[in-house]
Amino acid sequence: MKKSFLFFTMILTLVVLAACGQSNKDGANGEKTGDNKVLTMATSADFAPFESRDPSGKVEGFDIDLANAIAKELGYKLDIKDMKFDGLVGALQAKRVDMVLAGMSATEKRKQNVDFSTAYNHSGEMFITLKDSKIKTIDDLKGKTVGVQLGTIQEEGAKTLQKKVDFTIKPLDNATTLIQELLSNRIQVAYMDKSVATGYVKEQGLAGFDDPTTSSPGMAVAFPKGSDLTDDVNKVLKDMEENGKLQELKDKWLKDQQ
Ligand code: ARG
Repeated sequence: MKKSFLFFTMILTLVVLAACGQSNKDGANGEKTGDNKVLTMATSADFAPFESRDPSGKVEGFDIDLANAIAKELGYKLDIKDMKFDGLVGALQAKRVDMVLAGMSATEKRKQNVDFSTAYNHSGEMFITLKDSKIKTIDDLKGKTVGVQLGTIQEEGAKTLQKKVDFTIKPLDNATTLIQELLSNRIQVAYMDKSVATGYVKEQGLAGFDDPTTSSPGMAVAFPKGSDLTDDVNKVLKDMEENGKLQELKDKWLKDQQ
């Protein structure tokens, strides 16, 4: 009886150990050994042309192509996790993911919690409205409701601007929802990244004006603090810049935005 219990315990321990080894191999820690190296990347697929879902539900966009190129170059298989933008920095801090590509601007504030690669793209900010709107300048925002995506630099920027012009901020989880809210008149303005906004303006026949007050930092890949991947990815980005591959991706996804 005793013996068989011991045997059972030993088998159980072995099974548990094997399972741990397995999850380690496939987990979000950029394992460098084994033939099943997986790089877990998180994004927020509500931000075309950087990341969105195609009609079949597949995540696509500039950041996705770039992440695939990075993974391929470094010999990893890419695993993509789609989450709310507001949760991405936390996922990196908890080391649940190896890197984030989500059109994320490398701000000083975020740098306190995560590391960034060199910038791979620059954009600006834009206020978008319905086509016949009378809102044409920042002063016209007075008394209006401005939608922003939760956790973005646009949310921060709107708070700063609010000290000068009196308007209401409506923070929303999802960038696509901003457009739906605008189209159904629940907000009068959406404050967004310019490259993304330009796409909506064309697609939905909207109007808009540039934010003259901001100069946002470039978009970069984000990593958990101290990650070894930062240097590796910087090397890949440098190569892709030199051999024209980065420009090719910009031509493919950002042509209408530039
Ligand atoms: N560039 C802005 C920021 O870093 C917005 C990024 C939003 N990205 C997204 N995938 N929804 O705050």
